[in-house]
Amino acid sequence: MKLFLDSAKLEEIKEVKSYGILDGVTTNPSLIKKASSANNLNLEKYIIKILQTCGKLPVSLEVIGTNYEDMVTEGKILKKKFGKYGNVYVKIPVDPCIENKCTKDADGIKAIKALRKVGIKINCTLIFTPEQALLAAKAGANFVSPFMGREDDYIREVNRIKFDKSDYFPKEGYKKGNKILSDNGIVSGVDLVKECVKVLKGSKTKVLAASIRNVQQFREAVDSGAHIATVPLSVIKKLLIHKKTKEGMKKFTKDVIPEYAKILGK
Ligand code: E4P
Repeated sequence: MKLFLDSAKLEEIKEVKSYGILDGVTTNPSLIKKASSANNLNLEKYIIKILQTCGKLPVSLEVIGTNYEDMVTEGKILKKKFGKYGNVYVKIPVDPCIENKCTKDADGIKAIKALRKVGIKINCTLIFTPEQALLAAKAGANFVSPFMGREDDYIREVNRIKFDKSDYFPKEGYKKGNKILSDNGIVSGVDLVKECVKVLKGSKTKVLAASIRNVQQFREAVDSGAHIATVPLSVIKKLLIHKKTKEGMKKFTKDVIPEYAKILGK
């Protein structure tokens, strides 16, 4: 499975790149907002630096339009402005309508088709059903991004369950009385990813598990059959931590005999 960093912060991207394990980067308008509020920056130059840091690794940049025409125009702008500096994937929302305010249907799907036609690579975002993933794949999306954490949030919100964003949500679903809560049959974020993997079996489109908020969710994303997981730095760092690893290190360090240290140049 490939590991992407979910961040628009250049320092974070540089840090994970230095580990030698980075396979790509995903951004969205909220992540760009976070990165730019921390620095007083020229955003265009900043994005170019991100792309140059990533070299050939895929970097997803999202459109902001909410209709077909705008998304296609913006996808082309992103490719034209930044394509020469790196491997740009344009992020298109599967359905850009905000609260049923749209007059036209399937603008996301049509935009994917149009941008793929001119060779622009697409990461179709905000996927919350396997059917959305299927249609995006049929339109030619290179990646589809089911949002694990936000699916879990939704099931909890609809059922008025109090939670913190980073709280673990059971992969087999949340039991209330005798009933397992679901979003139209989807019982958890990881269940959503698994169903997307199932419907895209044999397709060229890769499933990119997104909105990962904790270590257990990352492990389940790996187990789900997703091709890629995009993870914030805070979670990547936690992947390395275990109390017994630290305890073992303390003991091994204490037990080093001088002869052994000498061999190692100490
Ligand atoms: C990445 O492509 C998504 O935009 C991101 O994972 C969303 O994560 P969040 O739900 O934690 O904001």
